[in-house]
Amino acid sequence: MISMKASFDEAALQEVRDRSDIVAVVSDYVALRKQGQRLVGLCPFHNEKTPSFSVTPDKNMFYCFGCGAGGDIFHFVMQRENMSFPEAVALLAERAGVELKASDQSPQDNIKREIRAVLSTACRFYEALLAASDGKLARTYLEKRGIDETTQETFRLGYAPDAWERTLRALRSKGYDQELLQKAGLVSRSDRGKYYDAFRHRLMFPIADPRGQIIGFGGRTLTGEEPKYINSREGPHFSKGRTWYGLDLAREEIRRQGVAVVMEGYMDVIAAHQFGITNAVASLGTALTSEQARALHVLAQDLVIAYDADASGQKAAHKGLEIFKRLGGQVRVAMMPEGYDPDDFIRQRGSDEFRALLEEALPLVEYRHRQLNRTYDVRKIDDKARMARELAAVLAELDNAVERAAYIQRFAREMDVPVAALEQEVRRSSRGGRDKTPELMYTKAHEKKASNGLSPAVLQAEKDLVRLMLDDGSCIPSIRAQVPLEAFVSAEWRAIVELLYEWPQTQGSIDQGRLMSLLGQNQKEACISLVAMVCAEDTIYADSDRQQVMTDCITTLKRRRLDELGRFLAVDTLTEDERQQHLVEYQTLLKELKSSRT
Ligand code: UTP
Ligand code: MN
Repeated sequence: MISMKASFDEAALQEVRDRSDIVAVVSDYVALRKQGQRLVGLCPFHNEKTPSFSVTPDKNMFYCFGCGAGGDIFHFVMQRENMSFPEAVALLAERAGVELKASDQSPQDNIKREIRAVLSTACRFYEALLAASDGKLARTYLEKRGIDETTQETFRLGYAPDAWERTLRALRSKGYDQELLQKAGLVSRSDRGKYYDAFRHRLMFPIADPRGQIIGFGGRTLTGEEPKYINSREGPHFSKGRTWYGLDLAREEIRRQGVAVVMEGYMDVIAAHQFGITNAVASLGTALTSEQARALHVLAQDLVIAYDADASGQKAAHKGLEIFKRLGGQVRVAMMPEGYDPDDFIRQRGSDEFRALLEEALPLVEYRHRQLNRTYDVRKIDDKARMARELAAVLAELDNAVERAAYIQRFAREMDVPVAALEQEVRRSSRGGRDKTPELMYTKAHEKKASNGLSPAVLQAEKDLVRLMLDDGSCIPSIRAQVPLEAFVSAEWRAIVELLYEWPQTQGSIDQGRLMSLLGQNQKEACISLVAMVCAEDTIYADSDRQQVMTDCITTLKRRRLDELGRFLAVDTLTEDERQQHLVEYQTLLKELKSSRT
């Protein structure tokens, strides 16, 4: 069951929605031009040459017919700025001059806010200690690593004192209780229930969200102790898989250049920025995720990986990069000379040489081809076979058929094997380990289903019924009476209909904002996109047509159910009860269908 309960105060949301102008907000990112009731432009969520992105101002919705991204003004900001729902609401509220009261937000949001407040205080505490006499050793270390004071200030580096309870006491004296400090990951609790500082005698790297709010820390040892870095615990306020280190500082430059440089370490990013490469960010020591890919994709189409020479190989294979490519972006790998990491390289060879490395970065596939070339000796037959197999796995990941074919041609020639043989390896590889769960949020649910063997007529009928209900809530009871929820085949349409069937009696069009926020709270992203599509299509029926469309759609869904029952009945593993039940439903449906024809 989908919950109708809102965790955000609906009146407050409504006010933000009413006072915000979707056209003004979208226009910050997309050049829109008027076309009938709508405005159209080039989609900010995927690469395109002709506009398929549309905004319907009177419905306050956007939708892209190309990639399926869609929703209301909150979703636009969430997707474009990679924000959570509450963050998007806060941003729009500020922009529209609506003041949100603490009580408008859920307890979960309140905790997050408290955690952020304490993290921000902690950040100032660590910064102050770095400057004080306690921080002497840490300062010497930074000097040795060549990080100048301006950079230290920009990245808000700090020092966690060499003590068990200093941070704890300092923050408690400012009114934060120890449970909160623990939730924030600043203190730990011993088995005997005693609280103590989680970071002791460490160089502190604050981790910020894209707006510069501190959400965690990385603490580096100053004594060679293991682990080298301690990172803040993850929680509702902080998830490594959604975060890029340095994105708050790099965001504008990434957007301006359309290129993001992806590194591995805190130190690499800091060195890069100090040397003027200010579009560099780092993942936090984990595999790249699709959320991270999306967060960069909205800013840039070109991503250059700059890892240690030895690390790039396997890590360049991460799924997040594939997602970035599927969104229409380009991924290239900078060839760091053996033995260097970006930090060493920039310091020793300077920013011009580093920029040259970025310029010469190879597309992912070519990079991996070159690596395989180094590993195998293609004059030997077994090596050749092994290399072909590994290369095939790389090629099979390419979504674009033309690109794949072109590489097959080139690599086959270079390896001196027939094109057909390499092609066969690629085919075999894609049949095997191919990822069956496309993570693309924008995957069009309806297309996916259509290819799963559902007839277009059924999909169309489901969509039209939803459209009718959205346009006029007064037809919900009559549709509900004739079409049981289970008759909707696609899970996405069914989830939407489930909410509509429970909707309070209403005349005229359904409050889309409310529908959007219910779907959002139930994490039905694919549904949001479908509702946005229906709104963007702008099909208007005359009253007489509406009745006809409704009857036709209901008939289509009934007929499909009849087919399904017929197939069930043909199976002889049914129990007698089941058979009887199906038979009754079958005969009732058949009668209804016949009578509707006359
Ligand atoms: P590196 O070992 O390359 O660290 O790990 P670094 O940032 O270059 O630091 P220096 O140059 O040795 O001082 C890369 C990243 O992996 C994560 C951190 O995010 C680090 O920046 N990491 C590494 C951890 O989280 N924990 C560890 O123990 C090690
Ligand atoms: Mn390093």
